[in-house]
Amino acid sequence: CFTFLFLCSSCSQKDEHYLIGVSQCSEDEWRTQMNKEITREALFYPQAEVKIKTAKDDNRKQIEDIKEFIREGVDLLVVAPNEANAITPVIEEAFDAGIPVVLVDRKIHSSKYTAYVGADNYEIGRQAGMYIANRLHGKGQIVEITGLKGSTPAVERHRGMMESLAETPDIKIIAKADAKWFQQDAEKAVDSILPQHKQIDLIFAQNDRMAIGAYRSAARQGRTKDIAFVGIDAVWSEGYGVDRVAAGELDATFIYPTGGDRVMQVAMAILQGKPYARDTNLSTALVNRSNARIMQMQTEHILRLDQKIEILDN
Ligand code: AHR
Repeated sequence: CFTFLFLCSSCSQKDEHYLIGVSQCSEDEWRTQMNKEITREALFYPQAEVKIKTAKDDNRKQIEDIKEFIREGVDLLVVAPNEANAITPVIEEAFDAGIPVVLVDRKIHSSKYTAYVGADNYEIGRQAGMYIANRLHGKGQIVEITGLKGSTPAVERHRGMMESLAETPDIKIIAKADAKWFQQDAEKAVDSILPQHKQIDLIFAQNDRMAIGAYRSAARQGRTKDIAFVGIDAVWSEGYGVDRVAAGELDATFIYPTGGDRVMQVAMAILQGKPYARDTNLSTALVNRSNARIMQMQTEHILRLDQKIEILDN
């Protein structure tokens, strides 16, 4: 794999203090993990100070958060843009003011950013589509629950899935709903979709929270036996995606890596005038019944180690 290495022209090495502003679009377990990784990785850079703000899925709040970071004089901005159209202008404003911008997870409609760190959402959608086609042996009726319409992963995951399903014309998408990445919205949408369709073979939700919402609705309506539920994220905290796959509620999910450590490494390379890749593409992997339990056991092991370290620290 070939990566282009860049050097940030406006960032010369300085050995003092770097203020990094992180603007998260939302609050959920996936982002909590990313924030923890960023904070942990920052410990390796004592000269870095990281401030994290969350916009709680509100474009206006995120624009305000970023403007506040600009006023504060941050040395670098890390942004997960809520919706591309709405957030692009303020990111361009920061970039034009000479502040390096690292986009994470979601993208904007402009090339005015310094680097991107995240998975290839088109590729994840394509892999999910291939999985669905195999799982249904090329024939069946499916429902698609999408994430927030204006956010780039929702668009890219859908495009990737459609690309794969183009090869299997006997798989039909019979209903679609935008649940904005939320469990409750997905549950509500599926509440009204299920009674309208007697045969549904699979519900593909663009993240695990929505897949869990879809499952809950189906469980209330006694429809879980005939329907397979597929999500994306594979967050391994208790009660999230990996657990639900191990419990047999979700049929499968795809790892959407949080990559907070990589975000911090790229940010520091930019600030310290070191080479960095403009695109850091994090890879994905399928989690289904065959590997979910192993992932769970590994997590339990890591948690036990963490507890031991805490006891030793005290
Ligand atoms: O931006 C993509 C989505 O954002 C993740 O898949 C989701 O769970 C997160 O909140």
